[in-house]
Amino acid sequence: AFVVGENCIKCKYTDCVEVCPVDCFYEGPNFLVIHPDECIDCALCEPECPANAIFAEDELPEDQEHFKELNAELAEVWDNITEKKDAPSDADDWNGVEGKLSYLER
Ligand code: SF4
Ligand code: F3S
Repeated sequence: AFVVGENCIKCKYTDCVEVCPVDCFYEGPNFLVIHPDECIDCALCEPECPANAIFAEDELPEDQEHFKELNAELAEVWDNITEKKDAPSDADDWNGVEGKLSYLER
């Protein structure tokens, strides 16, 4: 499955959800995740993310391995999202900032 990584936090551009053929994105307050059992590995979402936050699970940066479990866990509790919405007004300021996991809201 594909995995949403750290740089989505506080950016949440949501371009990814529009292209997913199986609607497997789930939305939290400031982060999106992919449901690993629903993703069909089509790779369409990966180039759509302006924050380059989406990875094939075997291409996840080593320091983001834990995002695999985080996607699986949160996809079970968050609501499905299928339509693009406005990103947070300060999304561009957060794009590329390191250590954003501490800002994750559940
Ligand atoms: Fe959806 Fe395809 Fe991205 Fe998986 S890889 S989340 S199926 S767009
Ligand atoms: Fe997040 Fe990128 Fe989608 S920032 S919401 S994974 S377009």
